[in-house]
Amino acid sequence: MKPYNTVTNALVWFVLLGLFFFLGMMTHHLLFRKQERELSKMAARVEKLEKLEPDLGDSMRELQSEMGKLWYAKKSHNTPLTLYELKEIKETVETVGILNPVIDRVNASGVLQGMINSQIAGMEDALKRHDDKAFDQQYAETLATCNECHRASGVGFNRITYPSAPPVGNQDWNPSTSK
Ligand code: HEC
Repeated sequence: MKPYNTVTNALVWFVLLGLFFFLGMMTHHLLFRKQERELSKMAARVEKLEKLEPDLGDSMRELQSEMGKLWYAKKSHNTPLTLYELKEIKETVETVGILNPVIDRVNASGVLQGMINSQIAGMEDALKRHDDKAFDQQYAETLATCNECHRASGVGFNRITYPSAPPVGNQDWNPSTSK
């Protein structure tokens, strides 16, 4: 082989390798940029969703209304509505626990999970057994848990009681007409 050819071959290989390397780098760069763009899009979306999260006060006011509705549904012997309100309370309590695992050093998710497993489950169970006394006892214990947590979190001035009037004036509690 002539020395000229060897040099040319080496040069061709060098250029080819350089080209490969360059193309590789460019592809990597483009993919990386794409990933970066997707990540920042996702971060913007998370930020937007975070703004939509109910704050603790919103969820608490919801719980207060649901507890009032639960009471009126039960006192009106409206079992489907009572079960529905219990499900709503459970969902609200779960949301509060997920969004606020710790409130002012109180293990909120523990307290709330306990409420679901004992008092709320107890009310569901009492309802199925038609045990009004047990239902009322579990309702009273739920109220006590609400107020205990308020005291522990430094907001004991929010004392929740039995409703003295229906929480809304535009709902029919009667089971035979509200079907
Ligand atoms: C894990 C602790 C915890 C439990 C359990 C709890 N709360 Fe609360 N609640 C709080 C905290 C903390 C606040 C203060 C929220 C704030 O700073 O916005 C609050 C505030 C409230 C408020 C005042 C909201 C307002 O702006 O008017 C109401 C009403 C309320 N809770 C209802 C309830 C009811 C009803 C229950 C039970 C079914 C309950 N809470 C159970 C911690 C708890």
